[in-house]
Amino acid sequence: PITRHYKFDIRLQNVTRLCHTKSIVTVNGKFPGPAIIAREGDRVVVEVVNHVKNNVSIHWHGVRQIQSGWADGPAYITQCPIQTGQTYVYNFTIVGQRGTLFWHAHISWLRATLYGPIIILPKHNVSYPFPKPFREIPMLFGEWWNNDTEAVITQALQTGAGPNVSDAFTINGLQGPLYNCSAKDTFKLKVKPGKTYLLRLINADMNDDLFFSIANHALTIVEADAVYVKPFKTNILLIAPGQTTNVLLKTKHHHPNVTFLMAARPYFTGRGAFDNSTTAGILEYERPSNSSSTKSKSLPLSKPTLPAINDTTFAANFSNKFHSLANAEFPARVPQTVQKHFFFTVGLGSSPCPKNQTCQGPNGTKFAATINNISFTLPTTALLQAYFFGKSNGVYTTDFPSSPLFPFNYTSNNPLNNTVVSNGTKLIVLPFNTSVEVVLQDTSILGAESHPLHLHGYNFFVVGQGFGNFDPNRDPANFNLVDPVERNTIGVPSGGWVAIRFHADNPGVWFMHCHFEVHLSWGLKMAWIVLDGKLPNQKLPPPPSDFPKC
Ligand code: C2O
Repeated sequence: PITRHYKFDIRLQNVTRLCHTKSIVTVNGKFPGPAIIAREGDRVVVEVVNHVKNNVSIHWHGVRQIQSGWADGPAYITQCPIQTGQTYVYNFTIVGQRGTLFWHAHISWLRATLYGPIIILPKHNVSYPFPKPFREIPMLFGEWWNNDTEAVITQALQTGAGPNVSDAFTINGLQGPLYNCSAKDTFKLKVKPGKTYLLRLINADMNDDLFFSIANHALTIVEADAVYVKPFKTNILLIAPGQTTNVLLKTKHHHPNVTFLMAARPYFTGRGAFDNSTTAGILEYERPSNSSSTKSKSLPLSKPTLPAINDTTFAANFSNKFHSLANAEFPARVPQTVQKHFFFTVGLGSSPCPKNQTCQGPNGTKFAATINNISFTLPTTALLQAYFFGKSNGVYTTDFPSSPLFPFNYTSNNPLNNTVVSNGTKLIVLPFNTSVEVVLQDTSILGAESHPLHLHGYNFFVVGQGFGNFDPNRDPANFNLVDPVERNTIGVPSGGWVAIRFHADNPGVWFMHCHFEVHLSWGLKMAWIVLDGKLPNQKLPPPPSDFPKC
């Protein structure tokens, strides 16, 4: 193992998209940002220097951060933001993970432009459990606003309404030919016939699950959230914000000189405004060098077929196809017994409109989003710091409810009349190594919707999922405790539930939230405190000396 050094200069850069030039916050002037490349077991050291007016923090999404919680990155959870002119060095080791993850800003809506891939290769002389690809290509899905995204969310929070939808989706920062004024900004994947390519797909967009497909080509899924899975073939895949998926693309033998369209657009079951537009890229077979034609065969390209925008059946079936390898080399360490059971409702709600303000949310209220009816309020100092130095007073409480305060029919078509939420900075404390089960139940309050729930500091096993209300007497009998998929982000089915399990073996303060940025802003988030164990390698060390101050 070696140490990989990176320097991230956070600075503004003018970028032109959709015939619109704007100044965006970038790393080293790049959009999307640079890739972090390391091998399993390597140490990664990233010096982040903030040259912009905004406060900044960077999260290494999906990196387990074993005993390095100070480097996790969510602002006001594990660290105070890096202020203008300040530097913070993130320092962590990649333990027991290999595959694709990504990094992104974790403060306000800055991740709209601050994101890039994390590529973790297997250890030296260790091969993939699938055929060695000819080339590996990172493909990041993103979302583009012509307006400044900080203004978009600030305005939404002030009016209590939903934010304006984005102007386009992107592949590697490019919108593609289906938008006005963006044909020249098209992602092109040039391939040779008869080869295997590894596509490292990352959904870094802000608010949308995406369907993705390449016309006339099947994809073989081999990995999810930097964990190998039992390979399976699909023509269409679904990827939620926060999820990463590695797929093999086998190119055809007899297709020199032709092009195919690839496309991504949202899966959406909620109500209200949303962006249903399509980003597209081009798969282009290289012309053989002896070819006489000088031009690539021209359009029309065949478009891939994608499911209906609200196809929940496809979503559930697709999610059910993922299984861990669960073999001798890559065992699935699923907790077989559970010490702490939790039942969390996740969904929308509303909060009263502040005096002297007009709110545009439901019935003149503000939109809110909750776990167990608690809309999480970010503190003004970092939770991890407050916990570590025993200064929780006035920062957080540890009375997060382990189930909804009163049961109701979560998924009925006639949801509760009372949609008003409570606010708080409430956490759950777990002793070291507790085996945990969390059932995440979607609610139909203000509309059933799939919520991509992301847990920091851990992978979890997805042991069960279903539609309707979770039944504690019947559903656990069908849990898969043998080869469930292991990941860090899972879509709670729209109008349904999902059950996850993990061992709380990493001390620190760990954020859990919906990876739709708008729901995160509205409060669909909470945090766990995992206490130190007794052994030295079960304790969180003190913060680094350059740790930012609030
Ligand atoms: Cu990718 Cu807390 O997020």
